[in-house]
Amino acid sequence: MARPGISPDPSHSGGEPPAPRHIAIIMDGNGRWASAKGLPRTAGHERGVEALRRTVEAARDLGISYLTVFSFSTENWRRPAAEVNTLFALLKAYVQRDLQRLKQDGVRVRVIGQREGLPSDIEALVERAEAETVHNTRFHLTIAFNYGSRNEIVRAATAYAQALADGTCKGPATEAGFEAFLDTRELPDPDLVIRTSGEYRISNFLLWQAAYAELLFLDVLWPDFGRADLENAIQRFHERERRFGAVTPGAT
Ligand code: FPP
Repeated sequence: MARPGISPDPSHSGGEPPAPRHIAIIMDGNGRWASAKGLPRTAGHERGVEALRRTVEAARDLGISYLTVFSFSTENWRRPAAEVNTLFALLKAYVQRDLQRLKQDGVRVRVIGQREGLPSDIEALVERAEAETVHNTRFHLTIAFNYGSRNEIVRAATAYAQALADGTCKGPATEAGFEAFLDTRELPDPDLVIRTSGEYRISNFLLWQAAYAELLFLDVLWPDFGRADLENAIQRFHERERRFGAVTPGAT
């Protein structure tokens, strides 16, 4: 499948400004949300899953086609084993509990990140979720799990170099040729990347893909994130001027 590209939604034909086609979210602040309430950090992650459910629903209602969320990074292995286990268990529970509804709602589920190193039951579940939703086109939910952008780029570069060497791909190397090896090869680039919790970092998330994304840093902690925050983020996206390296038409 051809990669849909970086420009605004080509199907849009004027009137209201187009909703961002692809929103990516760094769901940060679960631990602080829990600590502030005297709860264990894992309670923050549990509430984070509820915020994710709300956000998927709101994004679909608001005309977003692609939502990508960062739920476990290749660096998160540095956390205490109990917390890592909780995050794995939450992914499993989310897919088991929500897959049927996501399927019925026309949601295509993808999981990006390194598969190697995932427990076999999680890997099987992820593969099942992807296979059972492969024909859905209404909404694209991508969960970045065991994902790190540098890791993804190294995996893609290795595979591309191999393909160029064995002749599967014809040289010279190009950006489009390389992108075909990224985990996100079937996704358009994100138009908007949101990070919650008041931190101003990208933290190894979609470094290649977010080259022209608008970045929005919100103070809200992820478990408190909801429809109004998403609406507000989209409103602020519309206030930005995107030039993709060009100049504003008519500028002198
Ligand atoms: C960052 O908050 C959040 C994470 C590392 C995990 C995000 C996971 C979820 C929202 C729930 C899991 C969802 C699925 C589908 C598996 P933090 O813990 O770093 O917060 P802090 O900076 O306040 O400590």
